[in-house]
Amino acid sequence: MTGAREGEPVVSAQGLTKTYGALSAVDHVDLEVGAGDVYGLLGPNGAGKTTFMRMLFGLIRPDSGEISVSGVPVQPEPRRALAEVAGFVEAPRFYPYLSGRKNLELLGRLDGGLRPQRINEVLEVVDLFDRRDSRVREYSYGMVQRLGVAAALMRDPRLLVLDEPTNGLDPAGIRDMRNLIHRLVDTGLTILLSSHHMVEVDEICTRVAIMRRGRLAYDGPITELRAQAGRATRHLDTTDNHVAVEVCRGFAGVEHVQLDGPQIVFDADEATVERLSRELVHAGLGIHRLHAPTSALETLFFRLTEGGTGTPTDEEAAA
Ligand SMILES: Nc1ncnc2c1ncn2[C@@H]1O[C@H](COP(=O)(O)OP(=O)(O)O)[C@@H](O)[C@H]1O
Ligand SMILES: [Mg+2]
Repeated sequence: MTGAREGEPVVSAQGLTKTYGALSAVDHVDLEVGAGDVYGLLGPNGAGKTTFMRMLFGLIRPDSGEISVSGVPVQPEPRRALAEVAGFVEAPRFYPYLSGRKNLELLGRLDGGLRPQRINEVLEVVDLFDRRDSRVREYSYGMVQRLGVAAALMRDPRLLVLDEPTNGLDPAGIRDMRNLIHRLVDTGLTILLSSHHMVEVDEICTRVAIMRRGRLAYDGPITELRAQAGRATRHLDTTDNHVAVEVCRGFAGVEHVQLDGPQIVFDADEATVERLSRELVHAGLGIHRLHAPTSALETLFFRLTEGGTGTPTDEEAAA
């Protein structure tokens, strides 16, 4: 489901596979990131996102398949393929006892020199200019992550790769990082971003690939995914849940009904929930609570990555 997009893809993976013993960390993944895409690689922990990005950066070799950037295969020509790629996998690393500015200067020198003014520019972009002379050791984790983005931007990349850039940040750090990514998106930069938050990808990305145990469970425009995500999971608690669960089970549009401890769990869209609530009242039931703890898109994400609400994952079933 790549759709009709113009020009040569910036990233193209075909049959990309990486195994560790019996485990396929990345399993025959086909994926294309087009110029200007803000591409979300979405999946729960262990899905294979970092492994995919490591192969993209040439840090590990695939067992089979191929990944290329702007038409150049990463193996055997990582330097040429990655000339216009920047970013970081898991977490950026800096010298803690040097300032943010000094760290960037060192990186710039390693990269073959750059305009001194560029360092100030990227520090401005990531909102660290005022803290440029503080040691990295004194930075919050969110500031270090943003310095990682600054280091990537120094190279004026064609493709920016960010591996779970908000992971482990506090709410303010998450907000700042998301705002930064929004600013970068506005510049038209092609971005490949991994995340385990559906909401984050929905907010930022134009296209999404959902990974589940090394494989792609979905790949396409976020708009198409939204269109598929009609039903959200609902939680219902009434004056008599044993009666209510029967009402739910027989109700058109209500799916995956379960009596789960003190509440009933089911999937339904907005219109169905309205009709159902009237039916419950009509059946003489009082409603204590009826709400959707996750959005329709998150519900779909959990279904695609866990195999259905309330259904144990294979690992859980095997345990
Ligand atoms: N170097 C490694 N050796 C063994 N197993 C690994 C290694 N790297 C990753 N894995 C396994 O591969 C799977 C995918 O990991 P990873 O790509 O880090 O997932 P994600 O980034 O989506 O959380 C996990 O089950 C992980 O334990
Ligand atoms: Mg990871």
